Amino acid sequence: MSKHIVTVAVAALLVVAASALTRIPLKRGLPLAKALRKDQPRIERTLRVGDNDVVIHDLMNAQFYGPISIGTPAQQFQVVYDTGSSNLWIPAKTCGASCLLKPRYDSSASSTYVANGTAFNIMYGSGPVSGFESNDVVNLGDQQVTSQVFAQITNASGLGLAFDVAPWDGIMGLAWPSISVTGATPVFFNLITQNPSMQQVFSIALPDASGTNGVMDIGGIDTAHYTGDLVNVSLTEETYWQSTFASLTVGTTAIVSTSTRMVIDSGTSLIVGPTTIVAQIAAQIGATEIMAGKYTVSCLAVPYLPTIQFNVGGVQWSLSGSDYVINDEDVECILGIAGMDLPEPITGLWILGDVFMRKVFTVFDVQNKQVRLAYMKQ
Ligand SMILES: *[C@@H]1O[C@H](CO)[C@@H](O)[C@H](O)[C@H]1NC(C)=O
Ligand SMILES: *[C@@H]1O[C@H](CO)[C@@H](O)[C@H](O)[C@H]1NC(C)=O
Ligand SMILES: *[C@@H]1O[C@H](CO)[C@@H](O)[C@H](O)[C@H]1NC(C)=O
Repeated sequence: MSKHIVTVAVAALLVVAASALTRIPLKRGLPLAKALRKDQPRIERTLRVGDNDVVIHDLMNAQFYGPISIGTPAQQFQVVYDTGSSNLWIPAKTCGASCLLKPRYDSSASSTYVANGTAFNIMYGSGPVSGFESNDVVNLGDQQVTSQVFAQITNASGLGLAFDVAPWDGIMGLAWPSISVTGATPVFFNLITQNPSMQQVFSIALPDASGTNGVMDIGGIDTAHYTGDLVNVSLTEETYWQSTFASLTVGTTAIVSTSTRMVIDSGTSLIVGPTTIVAQIAAQIGATEIMAGKYTVSCLAVPYLPTIQFNVGGVQWSLSGSDYVINDEDVECILGIAGMDLPEPITGLWILGDVFMRKVFTVFDVQNKQVRLAYMKQ
């Protein structure tokens, strides 16, 4: 082969690689400010810890969600893309009153369905969700995963009215296989196994508070989402997308100056940290506690609030007052950092949810066991 032909072949490969990126449009559920209102029905998210589901007092109603389809011919669902869990679940045809307003998966209408039957249970803040595992093809944008084990939910009554009014039907977990409730391999991990040439990354770009549409890219990184260079941060565990931050400062005051465990979690709206430390942050910025771990600030003060910085991967990631305060029509301004003490073995863990992610574009890199961060291009 001549050198010229080799060059052409390499160029062709690069074109294929670029076009292999799969884009999933994400829509926002309730605006966060609205979801935080006390009178709003709520679904409180949980994190899997060992064999238990620990309730994080944070809302799934405000999550970003997008399309997925299951079966042959394809049956469509809207799911929350959640980097803090590892299972896929959607409502079953046999799910009764609690799924009445939802599209429901009909296995008898799918030629690729294979029964499994393993019981599936997840406890959310508002109650349990139960069903059984099944096996079918799953389509994610233009990508297809065969033999995917997922749960059909037969009883979602534990989620109450909030589930009926939520614009999404189920949850697709994007964390590591080790925290999969039934041991079923998560969708993304089956996808990369079945597509060995695919780049083993996905990334999430959430819009700022005023925007409604986000994007998840699979199998490639689109430089249009961010500014500057991506900063590599090695994972410390392959459970959630877990690593550490070196310090946390409010203005010029160091609040945390030792290496501290954190996860980047698209399924949590706020930033969540230990109660005593969040209380120190609140004191620094003059916030008032309104419920355990939840704080408000004067809306008039927001432009003058100090910057909060997390040092991750040797870089200070700065959030300004308008980034970390959720302004509900200038009536109430809620601190987007909530205090909560998590049990062993995740005591002291911070959860960097959407309040962090809408400022910081995140690449979830399975191949190199790292997250890669850069400021979002606004
Ligand atoms: C559905 O789950 C709820 C708990 O959230 C339980 O009280 C109820 O009995 C279950 N319904 C059925 C039909 O199993
Ligand atoms: C059901 O799925 C689980 C998780 O992938 C697997 O371990 C189990 O063998 C499957 N059971 C059947 C009966 O196919
Ligand atoms: C970050 O990780 C990517 C993917 O492994 C690698 O190509 C790049 O060289 C790394 N950057 C630095 C500065 O180490």
